[in-house]
Amino acid sequence: MRRRALAPGAVALALGLALTACGSDGSDDAPDLKVEGAFIPAPASGSMAAGFFLVHNSGGTDTLSSVDSPIAGQVTLHSTEGGVMKEQKSFAVPADGELDFERGGNHLMFENLKHLPKEGDKVSVTLHFSKAGAVTVSFPVKAATYNPTSHASDASH
Ligand code: CU
Repeated sequence: MRRRALAPGAVALALGLALTACGSDGSDDAPDLKVEGAFIPAPASGSMAAGFFLVHNSGGTDTLSSVDSPIAGQVTLHSTEGGVMKEQKSFAVPADGELDFERGGNHLMFENLKHLPKEGDKVSVTLHFSKAGAVTVSFPVKAATYNPTSHASDASH
């Protein structure tokens, strides 16, 4: 990868513009990403598992462009629209917003599993963002029915 050299004057100008941009819609700002609530429901059998998480962004826009994990031959990105899941090439991360991967909606598909993840395991997953770069997250493996967004199911405990 080649970097273009900037004259000192150009750097000062760029910094000035960045400061002026603060407080606008933030689309030119650097993204500031936090990945929260990541988990993999333990697959009962088979060669596939799903993954869920939330990307919290307190900066400018970014794009989730690919995902990989040492436990899977391939990790694909899926959306669910009207109950039908669809593979997507990428997902936009909105400025000062969230990208949700949750049950019934967007999800990761870990394909060609090298071993079956069991409840209590931790799986290393690397999310590749266009601007923020690679973010590696440890995804805990939860019970097959685990769903943090369904509070009703907690009432029985
Ligand atoms: Cu899917």
